[in-house]
Amino acid sequence: MTDDVIYLDYAATSAVRPDTVTEAVARYLRDVGATPGRAGHRRAVDAGRIVLRCRRKLAQLFNAPGDPGRLTFHLNATQALNTALFGLLRPGDRVVRTEYDHNAVRRPVLALKQRGVQAVVIEGDVHGGLSMFEVEHALKGARLLVITHANNVIGNVLPVADLARMAHEAGALVLMDAAQSAGHLPIDVERMGIDLLAFTGHKGLLGPQGTGGLWVREGIELPPAFFGGTGGDSDSPDMPDTLPDRLEAGSMNGPGIAGLLAGVEWLLEHGVDAVHRRETRLKQRLWEALYDVPGVVMQSPMHGADGAGIVMITIDEIDPAEAALRLDREFGVLVRAGLHCAPESHTLLGTGATGAIRLSLGWATTAEDVDRAAAAVARIAETKGSRRG
Ligand SMILES: Cc1ncc(COP(=O)(O)O)c(C=O)c1O
Repeated sequence: MTDDVIYLDYAATSAVRPDTVTEAVARYLRDVGATPGRAGHRRAVDAGRIVLRCRRKLAQLFNAPGDPGRLTFHLNATQALNTALFGLLRPGDRVVRTEYDHNAVRRPVLALKQRGVQAVVIEGDVHGGLSMFEVEHALKGARLLVITHANNVIGNVLPVADLARMAHEAGALVLMDAAQSAGHLPIDVERMGIDLLAFTGHKGLLGPQGTGGLWVREGIELPPAFFGGTGGDSDSPDMPDTLPDRLEAGSMNGPGIAGLLAGVEWLLEHGVDAVHRRETRLKQRLWEALYDVPGVVMQSPMHGADGAGIVMITIDEIDPAEAALRLDREFGVLVRAGLHCAPESHTLLGTGATGAIRLSLGWATTAEDVDRAAAAVARIAETKGSRRG
């Protein structure tokens, strides 16, 4: 970052990105500039190569088998999740989800419920646990289980492989929301038993906003969510039968995908395991520093190595939004307050009415960042609301 800030809002967006990402976007705009699949000239062909390379690298990162065209690009995880949910579920179908979901799952499932889909919501708890007995029961007759891999409020990581095994035994498909985990935690769709994977490009994958996608296992067919030009088969009134074109109507975000490719290459080079280990160490350091501050209430559990790099706190007698504002204005510490688009998770923590302050870590976070942020929180807790206004 150009200004001297401590950026601790990686769960919203990795606003700090490797230089290679910024350079890849600039290079695309300067030297390529064309839209992939929209002409046969050299620039469009170059653009198409970048998009294909990004599909391949993402498939490698997720250990996704088969044709890389089964990984389609969308503007974000929300669009990918909507494409999967509305594509798979029909009136009378049963979908099982948990209270750990973001509004990107909760709201489309609610909309589907209004159209006759039966939705079962599995309760969560303050520790991020789930009753496997309840899940097993709910899965009977289900068409789909939706799992949020890493929660963006409590920071818990769900036991996806076990849940997927139970879903498959019940004859249900498994859709995983990897918005919060891709790039932060290792993902292996084969080992975890995932059938559809929705991801966003601008968080742990280190790409620009306006990038994200969906991987769909061979044998599962989704209808298009959008209809329009695909660059080929133009005389047909229908969308093409084959992926990726079937799900990718309209011109794509070439510069964004070029940046996403650079982000994924950075992760493949440095290793997601190593990123996760580092983030876990720093999270522990932050958690322990804040734990000792009088007036600070740790709202999310530590979770050890099994969690995401998220620390949720409140400060006695200070509104979370005011605390976040003061952290920015007085200390240059950038965090996010509120309900983080996941009201059910906040209700589990008991912060549904007030919201809370989220400090979230990423690839570039340092021990110094963590110490300075904890010191800033301590200073605010000490002075309470005295600087109000
Ligand atoms: C768990 C989870 N799912 C989905 C999303 C939605 O991601 P996007 O805004 O990129 O669509 C988010 C973003 O905060 C998230 O944390």
